[in-house]
Amino acid sequence: MKPVKVGICGLGTVGSGSFNILRKNAEEITRRVGRSIVIEQVGARRDNDACDTTGVNMTRDIFDVVNNPEIDIVLELIGGTSVAKELVLTAIKNGKHVVTANKALIAEHGNEIFARAQEKGVIVAFEAAVAGGIPIIKSLREGLSANRIDWLAGIINGTGNFILTEMSEKGRDFDDVLKEAQALGYAEADPTFDVEGIDAAHKLTILASIAFGIPLQFEKTYTEGISRITSEDVAFASDLGYAIKHLGIANRTKNGIELRVHPTLISNKQLLANVNGVMNAVMVKGDAVGPTLTYGAGAGAMPTGSSVVADVIDVARTLTSDPNNRVPHLAFQEDALSDVNVLPIEEIECGFFLNMTIQDRAGVLANITQILSKNGISIESLIQREREGSDLVPLVVMTHDVKERAMNAAIAEIEALPDVAGTVQRIRVETLA
Ligand code: HSE
Repeated sequence: MKPVKVGICGLGTVGSGSFNILRKNAEEITRRVGRSIVIEQVGARRDNDACDTTGVNMTRDIFDVVNNPEIDIVLELIGGTSVAKELVLTAIKNGKHVVTANKALIAEHGNEIFARAQEKGVIVAFEAAVAGGIPIIKSLREGLSANRIDWLAGIINGTGNFILTEMSEKGRDFDDVLKEAQALGYAEADPTFDVEGIDAAHKLTILASIAFGIPLQFEKTYTEGISRITSEDVAFASDLGYAIKHLGIANRTKNGIELRVHPTLISNKQLLANVNGVMNAVMVKGDAVGPTLTYGAGAGAMPTGSSVVADVIDVARTLTSDPNNRVPHLAFQEDALSDVNVLPIEEIECGFFLNMTIQDRAGVLANITQILSKNGISIESLIQREREGSDLVPLVVMTHDVKERAMNAAIAEIEALPDVAGTVQRIRVETLA
């Protein structure tokens, strides 16, 4: 059979990993697909020392690749949303299938891109957009398709998890660990996407859409990063038997869908609490299967390239199978997507870890507990520590589940107390039950 011809746009971290896997595993891939997959052309602004491109048709203009009539599948690995969107829409217009690792593009423009792809009868595959090397899209869209998904929760940003792990295990400084993540190729071009939770929010948007059969709604995802987390928070949480992880949570409730990304305390006994370094893991709770957990490298050239190439193989197989019976882009038939509402964060209910600095003086604790009680907040545990040579001491309060709206009101009142210094650090707590 004729070889399948691939054009690669972008030869950065993911592009180089995908290029090298297609080369290194060419024989194994041919055995799987029944025909060879060849790299027809590579479009990149600069060469990458990690790739031997001798004899490869190289171009500096990525649009040469999408306009090359020889190419069947375009790999969009340039990142960003403006040029990448134009590139993908041009490829679709030219009747080419697309494989992308671009979570921002899918989360923010996926609804439009999939509609165009559907009209042209081509596939836009995006396994590598979420959780690097973990086949979570395939798992949710196909392996768990018998289930009504109740919720999912995942560590879906490798950089953030790497930073939290190093802070907790080695007491390292936030900026120092971030620099290392950048050097290792884990971090986004703009690392605020990692530390402010935007990257995880892009990924959660995609997962939720596929899990629940809802359109992509990035703008409704509550997004909070890890930049406010201190080593003191990490140490207190650990004393209480918890780890602080940056989680993406999508939960189907009777009132609507929760879509939220934020630092979260989870019990050290949870498997997710032991997912460390750049590793990602996603827990999915289906009504038939119960809880499942997938784990693997969430970033890096070869793990992410593994997902890109798996998509290329899937698309290559589809070329010779029934085009009218494909797995839908968002797992559910396009005309069967649900318009169930996404809940605002104030409507969400969970436990809270509060860390504040107070004057070590009679009556202060009573005032704080009274405010919590007045707002219907029940305390689960409380720790007050001495701080040598200072009247200002840390107070940590763990609460039972309460609506975020009530917690906001209580925190505003606590922060207004003259004996409370600065702001109250609030971190949500999840049981993942
Ligand atoms: N910056 C991302 C992360 C890369 O750290 O997870 C993979 O999407």
